[in-house]
Amino acid sequence: MAHNNPWPDEGNTGHIWDEDLRELDNPPPLWWMLSFYAGFIMIIFYSLYYPTIPLTNASGEFTKGMADWTQVNEYQEDFKVLNDWRTAKFADKEEQLAALPVTEILKNEDLKSYAIATSKALFGDYCAACHASGGAGIPGFPVLADDDWLWGGSIAQIEASIANGRIGNMPAKGMMGNLTDQEISDVADYVIALSEGRGDDAAYSAGKAVYSKGMCVACHGPAGTPMAPTGAANLADGIWRFASDRDSVVSVIAHGVNVKKNGVHIEGTRQAVMPSFKERLPNADVNIKRLAVYVHSLGGGQ
Ligand code: HEC
Ligand code: HEC
Repeated sequence: MAHNNPWPDEGNTGHIWDEDLRELDNPPPLWWMLSFYAGFIMIIFYSLYYPTIPLTNASGEFTKGMADWTQVNEYQEDFKVLNDWRTAKFADKEEQLAALPVTEILKNEDLKSYAIATSKALFGDYCAACHASGGAGIPGFPVLADDDWLWGGSIAQIEASIANGRIGNMPAKGMMGNLTDQEISDVADYVIALSEGRGDDAAYSAGKAVYSKGMCVACHGPAGTPMAPTGAANLADGIWRFASDRDSVVSVIAHGVNVKKNGVHIEGTRQAVMPSFKERLPNADVNIKRLAVYVHSLGGGQ
């Protein structure tokens, strides 16, 4: 920097480098100054319009600005736009779902695929906790993706299962509750043999006799295949509703399924309750049909 200013009248700041490189004191161009002041005005406007100043107002909330803008409001407005668009786009499909019985929905390929596509999230929210995603089943809860049905695999039966719920009942120790431990053990062996196609072996004749005495026939049918879908498991098909190990089979026969005393499940009984969804699902009329079509499509619909 120089101590002598060789250009005293030029309006420089007196800062001079490398002999002749000087800092001048010119005003900025007018256009620049105008935008600069406009920026200030905008700041004032912004800070009044949007929530800027973190002060509390009379009701103890932070100041929200004149626009009452929040991120949540903005999200909700955008979401509403999307939802309105979606509702309008699919309005006729939804109307058809509401108007037609499930049997008709099933016949209409287009409507059927729409019902299936729109069921997945619903199934995840309301059903997958017990039936696993895709209806694959969780131990203790039935698989929905096979053709082994407790309550029937027609679309109407599936719809009824979802709408009204299902509670399977099996008494403990046979219909009369009078089987001895030995008899329970024999009939368990017989039932396991049945599931493996060896029910007629002479070795299981004692168990077979207990099967009649305990009136297992009434629910499970003469050879382990229930005659009507009343919730009783098929004992002859090798697919186990609960578990295939002998201890589990003995335990089901000894303690039954959903056996209650004073309104409470007794110790050891299998709890098998499918809740009713008539009142649980939003927009239940349409959503039960949608889910019935979806479950029917999982592979085992009849
Ligand atoms: C709290 C657990 C639970 C939830 C949640 C649940 N289920 Fe079930 N569901 C069961 C049980 C347990 C059974 C078997 C009832 C029985 O053993 O008789 C069952 C049975 C069924 C059946 C009959 C299966 C058959 O073999 O006949 C259908 C269909 C069904 N559920 C569909 C659904 C759908 C669809 C949803 C969702 C809206 C759902 N379930 C939610 C527990 C549940
Ligand atoms: C009143 C009807 C009824 C009678 C009587 C009955 N059961 Fe059952 N049983 C059921 C039902 C219902 C289920 C399945 C419950 C479910 O899945 O919710 C079942 C399930 C079973 C299971 C479990 C099957 C599996 O796949 O895990 C076995 C084993 C069984 N019963 C054996 C017997 C034997 C042996 C007798 C006779 C001593 C008998 N049951 C009598 C209704 C009955």
